[in-house]
Formats: sequence, C-alpha cells, structure tokens
Amino acid sequence: MSDTTINSPLTLPCGATLKNRIAKGAMTEGLADPQNRATARHVRLYERWADGGSGMLLTGNVQVDRRYLERPGNVVIEGPQSNEQRAALAAYAEAGTRNGTHLWMQLSHAGRQTPAAVTQEPVAPSAIEVEMPGGQFGKPRALTGDEIEDIIQRFAHAAGIARETGFTGVQIHGAHGYLISEFLNPRVNQRTDEWGGSLENRARLLMETVKAVRARVGADFPISVKLNSSDFQKGGFSHQDSIQVAKWLDDAGLDLLEVSGGNYEQPVMMDTEGFEPVYEEKVRSSTRKREAYFLEYASDISKAVGKTPLMVTGGFRTIAAMNEALASGDTDVVGIARPLCVDAALPNKLLDGSVSEVRKWEKELRLGPTRIFGPNSPIDLIRGLNAWGVQGWYCLQIMRMGDGQNPDTRMSVFKALRSYMSNEQKAAKAMAKAA
Ligand SMILES: Cc1cc2nc3c(=O)[nH]c(=O)nc-3n(C[C@H](O)[C@H](O)[C@H](O)COP(=O)(O)O)c2cc1C
Repeated sequence: MSDTTINSPLTLPCGATLKNRIAKGAMTEGLADPQNRATARHVRLYERWADGGSGMLLTGNVQVDRRYLERPGNVVIEGPQSNEQRAALAAYAEAGTRNGTHLWMQLSHAGRQTPAAVTQEPVAPSAIEVEMPGGQFGKPRALTGDEIEDIIQRFAHAAGIARETGFTGVQIHGAHGYLISEFLNPRVNQRTDEWGGSLENRARLLMETVKAVRARVGADFPISVKLNSSDFQKGGFSHQDSIQVAKWLDDAGLDLLEVSGGNYEQPVMMDTEGFEPVYEEKVRSSTRKREAYFLEYASDISKAVGKTPLMVTGGFRTIAAMNEALASGDTDVVGIARPLCVDAALPNKLLDGSVSEVRKWEKELRLGPTRIFGPNSPIDLIRGLNAWGVQGWYCLQIMRMGDGQNPDTRMSVFKALRSYMSNEQKAAKAMAKAA
C-alpha cells in the first residue's frame, strides 16, 4: 500500500504532470454545430469543468470520419481545418485547460454503432449488425484494407490538430463497441486477412493507430487508450485478451491506459439497471463490493504492465474507495463521469474533503414506475427505453451547462427521453441540410 490519494500529482511517462488523480471520464456532448465544428457551448461547458478541480478532463468522443458518428452533434476533425475550425478548437482547448487542468481529446470512429439517423450503412470489421431491438443501427458493410489504412491516418491527423490547437493530450477510444473495439471483438471481427483472426491481428488496428498517433504528436505529448477489460460477452474480447493487449500497449509506450468494459449490446460500463447479461466472465462480486466496476480487472492489468499508469472509470462514488484503489496500486487515476453532469465542482469538493460520498443518481433514475422499468423488466424494449431515457437525462444536463444553465436534477426521465430524441432528430436533419 502506498500513501497516494486523490490529491497526489502524477507524472506520466511522457513527462507531463497531472495536478491530482481525478479525471473526468469522456462524455459525448452533442454540442457541435451542423457542420460538426466546436462551438461556444463547448467553451462554456469546459470552463465549468476546468474550474471544477479535475486534474484532467477527457472530451466526449471527437470523430475522425463524419460519415460514421456516434451521434449527430459530435465534433469531427477530418481533412484540412479552416482558420475558423482551428479557432473554435483553440477556444475549446483554452477553456478546458484553465487552472492548470489537462484537457485530452478522445478520438473515435463509431463503426457499426453509428445510429441509423446518421447512416443506414455503417462500417465494421465484418458485416455483422448490432443486436439491439428497434432498428436503431443499420446493417454494416465490411471495411476494405485500404479503408482501414485510411482510418489509421485519420486518427493521426486529428491527434496532430488536437496538439496544434492547444489540447494537452489525446485518447484513442478502443472501448465500448466502437470501431477499434469491434476489431478486437471476435464476434464482430470475422475477417480472414491481417486485420482479423488471431488476437495479434484483431489488435492491429489499435496498435497501428497508437504508432501513427505517436509519430504525429511526438514523444512528449500524452497518449491514452480506453480499453475494455472484457466485452463481457460469450465469444467476445475476453479479459485474457485485454491483459495481452495491455502488455503490447505498454511496450508501445503509452501514457495512460483507461480500463472500462462492455458495449451497446452489453452496457456494463454504466452498470445499467436491468441488464443482467450472460457474462462469459461475470463481473466479479469482489469488484462490486469495491464499488468501482472494473477494479479487479484493472488489478490484473496493472500486474501485467510495467510502465503505463492506469485509469479506472465506472462506479467510483466515495473518497474512501478512490483512495483505497489508488493506495493499492490497482489504479493510478480515478475516472468519474456521470456525477459531473450533476455537479461540475464535485472534484474540488472531494479534494478538500467537504464531500466524501457522491449521490448515486444511477440507482434512482427511472423512466417510470419501478415495477415496470426496474431491474427485472422482462421486455428488452422497455429496458432499452429506460436506459436511453436515463442516458438522455445526463446528456441534457451537459447541454444545459453548455447553454450556461445549471443542471436540473428534477427533470423527469420521461421528459428527458422525449427532449433528447427530438434534439437528436433535429441535429441529424440540420447536419443533413448542411452537408
Ligand atoms: C452522457 C454520457 C456520455 C458518455 N460518452 C462517452 C464517450 O463519449 N466516450 C467514452 O469513452 N465514454 C462515454 N461515456 C462513459 C463514461 O466515460 C464512463 O465510462 C461511464 O459513465 C462510467 O463512469 P461513471 O460511473 O463515473 O459515470 C458516457 C457516459 C455518459 C453518462
């Protein structure tokens, strides 16, 4: 046990220092304009989060290809950036780096989890659809080898722009069922070329992306990867796979490995009520006791990696659990996401000890009566609607802060679902019109 606490600074392998051990987990903002550029709403939001005390803020996923977004309001960086686009990114970066805060841009390609409102034909390693009811995602087509090479260059290009415009690090999104995670997952990656089959081949997209990003941003700039500790699906990316990939990333030279888990089919990253999946590897009960969902998994990974600091995100809600996880060496950084939609200043309160336990909104929010929308609802569609409603609730709090308002915790999940869906439809239409 060490005496590391959330207040301890951390120097990363590249030489950069985080002022404390709390990082805001990436959360999609949906605040881009119809051309997918950063806006004044990002500036307002990130000023608030940078004033809130975190050592590091991760942005919501910024996309490297406008055809395959996670949602219509994503920021996109592709191709040459106009002076206007650069200025918008620079204002965003300036806001999020106030108070010596690090602001790292999360880069992603949504792959087959691109909603049908964005495209009816997303792309994936193989032509295998997301197994979810409601026709939310189109059937993907398999990427060609040339397209995969192009995607790697897109990540590197966007990382270079992030550095040039004042972001202080980048994170490659390799988790949660987006493209890189799909390549790692044998259920979705059934390719027989050098990008599929063995774990080495399935990890090639991730490893080549890390290499290309490092070559673009240089040795002194933080690079992180968000990786699943497991997909928690039968035949998916397993925990053993994850440990091996973490070792390769460690050898490649990474500054922070963020450990998460799951995907849209298996949303364990949120511990979503009602999803009690048939795990290949059940979320271990000791992890549950330790509050953070993936800590036991991170512990295995930390034993396997030599140089790379770890960040664990998902479920941290008490100072006691955060400090215990840091002191045990199972993680080096504590990621916190949803609570910062409700209270942007929470990290300051944890750091000065004025708050020791955070309210678990995720255990309270429901679309309707517990007997219908509670954990045991047998109907997939109802469970799915509930999960989207709750997700919409958090997204709307983020948008309120982007508009200079305070979060509204009295907002009903039902109202949030309606407003969120209407917002997404409007954003998709505006984007299509601007194209
Ligand atoms: C509204 C919302 C948006 C999210 N967007 C992203 C994202 O863009 N990228 C990502 O890696 N994770 C995203 N996540 C997942 C979080 O980063 C985090 O892994 C998850 O919320 C668990 O952490 P928590 O228990 O502290 O909330 C999002 C979560 C929420 C609630």
